[in-house]
Amino acid sequence: MLPPHRPAPDCRVAALPRRALFALGGAALVTALTPVAASAAVTAAAPRTDPFLLGVASGDPLPDGVVLWTRLAPRPFEPMGGLPFVSYPVQWQVAEDLAFTRVVRSGTATARADYGHSVHVDVRGLKPGRDYFYRFRAGAHLSRVGRTRTAPAASASPRALRFAVASCQSYTDGYFSAYRHLAAEDLDVVFFLGDYMYEGAVNSVGGIRMDTGLQLPDVFELATDTLDLYRLRYALYHSDPDLQAAHAAFPWVLTWDDHEVQDNYAAGVPRFDIPAGDFLVQRANAYRAYWENLPLRSPQRPTGADLRLHRRIRFGDLAEAHVLDTRQYRSDQACGDGLRAGCADRDDPRRSLLGTAQRSWLLDGIARSGTRWNILAQQVMMAEVRYGGQPPRLDMDKWDGYAADRRKLLQTAGRVPGTVVLTGDVHFNYAADLRVDFAAPASAAVAVELVGTSVSSASDGTDSTPGLEQQRRDNPHLRFANAQRGYIRCELTRDTLRADYRVLPYVTRPGAPIATRASFVSHRDRPGLGPA
Ligand SMILES: [Fe+2]
Repeated sequence: MLPPHRPAPDCRVAALPRRALFALGGAALVTALTPVAASAAVTAAAPRTDPFLLGVASGDPLPDGVVLWTRLAPRPFEPMGGLPFVSYPVQWQVAEDLAFTRVVRSGTATARADYGHSVHVDVRGLKPGRDYFYRFRAGAHLSRVGRTRTAPAASASPRALRFAVASCQSYTDGYFSAYRHLAAEDLDVVFFLGDYMYEGAVNSVGGIRMDTGLQLPDVFELATDTLDLYRLRYALYHSDPDLQAAHAAFPWVLTWDDHEVQDNYAAGVPRFDIPAGDFLVQRANAYRAYWENLPLRSPQRPTGADLRLHRRIRFGDLAEAHVLDTRQYRSDQACGDGLRAGCADRDDPRRSLLGTAQRSWLLDGIARSGTRWNILAQQVMMAEVRYGGQPPRLDMDKWDGYAADRRKLLQTAGRVPGTVVLTGDVHFNYAADLRVDFAAPASAAVAVELVGTSVSSASDGTDSTPGLEQQRRDNPHLRFANAQRGYIRCELTRDTLRADYRVLPYVTRPGAPIATRASFVSHRDRPGLGPA
């Protein structure tokens, strides 16, 4: 077990005159933070070379705190990040200002070897709705500074919540230029909805990036299954400067989809033909590396092949975000997965996408939240999508393959105004009105769904495709469809939701500009997306 991370005032830093610290600035601040002695459980003082090459991150904001993350890896593409199997003390500071003249919390955490030298600090005692700056130190090495923001007080009535929706960042499919632009937005929080990494082979130049400066070792050609391979894959992703900038700019609230383990897996059922026992070992490795590499609290730390990822994040009385996990507990895909027509099993009430426990937790949570809005931060598309044919073909991996769960959820949403569903997975932008019965296009929408495209997966997109045009015709509840890369920027106010679909012209080379392709609004009490 990790030792508890309690906020402990660091007298050595706090006692220094503010003016002196401010005047020192930059590298001089390294010496202002005195190294701590290694505790009995720690067998090394500090890595010799800079271990902060994977950046910093914060996540899951609360009114009084955030979780801070980093991982020591002086040589990220070597096993264990180039470190021996020993643990290291890592100091951390949280300040009200970028210059760290007003440090309000600080302490020492342990980068444990058995957790891949990751550091998770559950900082508490902060003020609600405030910006803070944080950094880490190991020996003489200081991390970059991250900025984060606490959630509003539970009793507060915020006028607005600004957030971005991102998902699907295949390193080998392109550059993460979307994050360079996202980092420059004015946001309270980022929702990341899955496919943080992809499990397939990465060649030495990073696939389509053709980055000859990368020179990845041959071990990256292996699909991930062992803990070491998953850790290496996260190291590659975290080495991306644009992703680092986005993590350092805002707190993130993350959930996963399938590729963090294996394409289209369902609970304990692998997509590929490997023994179930072996797959659970792989899932345990994947889940452990997931926790190690992201800003998640200890309740999300896995036990073997189990990790509780569904949780709630509240933003005063304005919104409650219900973060869902549609992979770990789902029934196996109906009718053999894929696009299927006339599959009766998809409507079987014994089958579930969320699992019965998470479904009850969600339905109960929506009914009880008492907030103006309920945000469902989740993975796979909820709106029905007919892919032609009569009867129409539907995708068994999505909510279409679990129609009974969807009906229960949308019936609940119909009784509680203000449901917004955020979705990743499909590598297309969609804006959709959600109805209890999609076959009744004249019936009132009960909620809206914003489907965010990929950051890079599927490489350079196009504004539209013949397939998307046909989908718009076959599915009148789809208000928008687009095949470019990017993210969605959203603003929730007391009565309205606004969504700006931010898109890039290309990702196969760096430096793409960004533009707003389309904007939609929906009213809390009259759900339905219309042009902004
Ligand atoms: Fe994806």
